[in-house]
Amino acid sequence: DLDELRKGKNRLVPGEGARRKPAAFIIGEAPGAEEAMALRPFVGKSGRVLRQLMASAGLTTTGEANCWLTNVVKYRPPSNRTPTPQEIKWARPYLRKEWELVGKPELIIPVGAVALYAVMGKPTSIMASAGNPFRSESGRIVWPMLHPAYGLRNEVAREGMEKDWKYLGKRLKAGLYSARY
Ligand code: URA
Repeated sequence: DLDELRKGKNRLVPGEGARRKPAAFIIGEAPGAEEAMALRPFVGKSGRVLRQLMASAGLTTTGEANCWLTNVVKYRPPSNRTPTPQEIKWARPYLRKEWELVGKPELIIPVGAVALYAVMGKPTSIMASAGNPFRSESGRIVWPMLHPAYGLRNEVAREGMEKDWKYLGKRLKAGLYSARY
């Protein structure tokens, strides 16, 4: 639970990137060991993969930052376990607040099943959703992607992920709204 996540030296890992008009709001699951040390999201093994994929879509949180990158749960879960449904539920209002604070970016990219759960408010198949953008009820474009950790374990999935991010990059260049969702 939340007290478990906050206990001891476990510190909050904030999101990072463009605070003004980010082109995308990208959401991961929770920090791992390296993120908890650096107090930055996605700086470990998965992070290197994700940041490479993001770059292929023209998205970066460093230098000329143009997107916001964060996690559903901001504390590293004990032994890197998956956040529980209750923790996801607790995290949702904070995630929404964070999205509002960076100017309510129209494009929301949940990376992996936990982030998709948090965005939808209920368990939703990431396998069926990844790479298939859709309009949320409130009119945002939700563009689910597979988690980079999955791509690290599965070469075929990795190739699919590379295509998905490249396609996103193409759509961003052409103007996100030139297509129907
Ligand atoms: N995996 C995540 O989901 N988030 C991170 O910040 C690092 C790894």
